[in-house]
Amino acid sequence: MKKYTVIEDISNLSEIIKDAVLLKMDPFEHSVLGKNKTLAMLFFNASLRTRLSTEKAAKNLGMNVMVLNVNDAWNLEFEDGTVMNANSSEHIKEAAQVISQYADIIAVRAFPGLSDKQKDESEQVLNSFIKYASVPIVNMESATAHPLQALADAITISELTEKAKPKVVLSWAPHPRALPQAVANSFVEMMQKLDVEFSITHPEGYELNPNITKNTPINYNQKEALKDADFVYVKNWSNYKDYGKVLNQDPNWMMTQDKLGTAKFMHCLPVRRNVVVEDAVLDGENSIVIEQANNRTYAAQIVLKKILDNL
Ligand code: CP
Repeated sequence: MKKYTVIEDISNLSEIIKDAVLLKMDPFEHSVLGKNKTLAMLFFNASLRTRLSTEKAAKNLGMNVMVLNVNDAWNLEFEDGTVMNANSSEHIKEAAQVISQYADIIAVRAFPGLSDKQKDESEQVLNSFIKYASVPIVNMESATAHPLQALADAITISELTEKAKPKVVLSWAPHPRALPQAVANSFVEMMQKLDVEFSITHPEGYELNPNITKNTPINYNQKEALKDADFVYVKNWSNYKDYGKVLNQDPNWMMTQDKLGTAKFMHCLPVRRNVVVEDAVLDGENSIVIEQANNRTYAAQIVLKKILDNL
């Protein structure tokens, strides 16, 4: 593997899931592979799971880890040809090349602004690192994608399914703030590749990017969509068409134990209790959110291992 910025960077999904489960059984099997190699993790935005699980994954492989909260560094300029006489002190062209001298792999988290769809879809920050860095790049959640989360989700479903082809439903939920579509986008793309019966339910008008959802069935009736589901993945996203807006906060879309039934409950976390999902679900025996978060380590570890194998 040369990089992991999009799900398409995985050449064999079933193999990588199997390899991740093997790593989980023996996390230190390759503890010398990363000796004298360094991972630099750059955070333009907050994180709990991604930060800690990726650091743990790298250390399980014997790597050194450096973490930079980008807000603590010089303001970066991403546009070409700018007269840098305002707030930006350093151009990404120099920054990416400099960091490449200090690290063997660079991992980046950079959320969308959610005000300019075209700019967000250009993945300016992630693509600038891909363009100007001379080492492999890992996406720790970008403007439009969260492929490490999606890989952890695929591992979790593969481990916990009791059926050859489980029914998986992605269900929108209300939220008071405008959230990115990244987690939902990557989950959709991952489920399209996994052997599952997959559908999406959300209020009318909350369609994700049609270039991502493609032919995935969409049902505006949540109750109907959830019928006989084996896994229900709950996530809020802000409006894609009326870009970045919060147009619906209908509490009737919150996930409840009654609606969930016997299905397993998934969420990437962090989650707002009793807004996105009621306490009874998160505290109930069908919630697998903690297992999901645990698999973030092994998703990151198998990705780092495959990149290290290729260095
Ligand atoms: N799910 C996820 O990416 O969690 P963090 O935002 O805490 O990293």
